[in-house]
Amino acid sequence: MTRASDIRARLSLMALLAIAVPAAIVAVLGWVSLRHWQASAELLFREQARDMAAMAVDKIEMTLRETENDLIAELESALEAPGSLATALDAFLAAHPLIRRLYLFDRRGELLYPATRDGADAAIFASLLAEVSQGFWERGGRRELTGGDQIALAAILRGPDGHAVLAAFTWNVEVLSEAILSRTVRTLEAPTILAVLDARDRPIFSKESLDGADRILSVPFRERLATWRLAVYQPPGDSPRLAVRRQVMLFMGAFGVLLAVIAAGTVLTWRLTRREAEMAQLKSDFVANVSHDLKTPLSVIRMFGETLEMGRVTDEARRQEYYAVIARESERLSRLIENVLDFARIEGGRRTYAIVPTAVEPVIRDALAAFGHPLASQGFKLDVRVPPDLPEVPMDGEAIGQALSNLIDNAIKYSAERKSIVVEARVAGLEVAISVADSGVGIPRDEQGRIFEKFYRVGRSETQGRRGRGVGLALVRHIAEAHRGRIAVESAPGEGSRFTLWLPAR
Ligand SMILES: Nc1ncnc2c1ncn2[C@@H]1O[C@H](COP(=O)(O)OP(=O)(O)OP(=O)(O)O)[C@@H](O)[C@H]1O
Ligand SMILES: [Mg+2]
Repeated sequence: MTRASDIRARLSLMALLAIAVPAAIVAVLGWVSLRHWQASAELLFREQARDMAAMAVDKIEMTLRETENDLIAELESALEAPGSLATALDAFLAAHPLIRRLYLFDRRGELLYPATRDGADAAIFASLLAEVSQGFWERGGRRELTGGDQIALAAILRGPDGHAVLAAFTWNVEVLSEAILSRTVRTLEAPTILAVLDARDRPIFSKESLDGADRILSVPFRERLATWRLAVYQPPGDSPRLAVRRQVMLFMGAFGVLLAVIAAGTVLTWRLTRREAEMAQLKSDFVANVSHDLKTPLSVIRMFGETLEMGRVTDEARRQEYYAVIARESERLSRLIENVLDFARIEGGRRTYAIVPTAVEPVIRDALAAFGHPLASQGFKLDVRVPPDLPEVPMDGEAIGQALSNLIDNAIKYSAERKSIVVEARVAGLEVAISVADSGVGIPRDEQGRIFEKFYRVGRSETQGRRGRGVGLALVRHIAEAHRGRIAVESAPGEGSRFTLWLPAR
């Protein structure tokens, strides 16, 4: 047993090394490369989002500059128009809702338009006038001014009387959003949502609703709308990021299944090797048993033979008894050898059967006759019930005889105090049933299925003192199946057992 368990322990260790270790390595590598892949997919995704945002910023600024150009050109022509400055500028403002407020200063900082200064704009224009340098007046040009939430555009223009004037205007954000941002961004095809955020991160404009959307990144505007930013949002639900995550989950799931299969395979292999080891153990027990069983009758035969040979036994009756013992033991020996040889033949697939219609009764009688001595000497009550009209049954008489011998042998061997055996044959439907029943030790329920396995013997205590090789019933089952029949057992521990051989009647 130690050898077998040694082998088992070594095999388990090898299985662990050969399967578990590579599986663990593959798991770690798989995990690492998945993380890498996830990270690079994320990077690519962000890069694309950044490109998209930069493109949108460029487009918006370009459109804004074009709009500025148009507005300033029109403002210049309004300044050149004959008549009242205020009327001309009022008309200009009415025509351009994009401009929320317009202010005109002369070089000394005097307000030329409108007549009154709005309090809300005081801050931005105070800083505007402070920032407007001498150079700016000289060079002319344009610049953006920011103060608080306000964004204003300042430009030096030629005034009505030929002197330079400073024009400054603030945007009407709603109109700007509709006329410029929306119009520009709408032409950009993107799976993401583009939005413009003001200095306080409030969305001024977004292509779609931002509810539940995730901000991926934001980039600042450059020359115009300097305090604002353009942000890229991931719409809720289906997103490449989610798809990647799903893919990772899928991979991990598939890998988990793979690992489970490997684990199941390992367990199965381990079980198989354990069975193999058990079988090896049973085989060596078998060899030891057979050798022992051969030795006993041989030494009996030899002892009685030698005694007779010496001529010391003068009593004729005594001599006859010795001859009978020798004959009986030889018969047992041949039965044993026949069983082992047959078993070997069956194992090697070399056992053949000659199945012909045969009378059942003589087969039973012959089988019982071989046990005449043990039955009589141990005081067995034998009851044989074979109806006289039992038809002939297709069978190999010798093989069926051997099967019955094994059943009778067991019935004798596994009987205790109550020694009675009933052998019965009857027709049941399309089958013939031949049964051997005893009132012996019986077989526990959970072992009844296994006793027909080769080398299997019921738990040691039950079989203690009763020698056997555990091949008898395996042989019986094989013979039954070769006849397209079957063997069945009914048994209760302490009450007895009944083995029934079912054979097709035709
Ligand atoms: N009539 C019976 N009553 C109780 N137990 C039985 C009976 N027949 C078989 N068994 C149990 O089934 C086991 C298997 O029987 P089987 O005939 O195959 O082997 P064996 O009798 O031990 O050895 P062998 O027949 O090869 O000499 C036996 O060891 C015994 O425990
Ligand atoms: Mg037996």
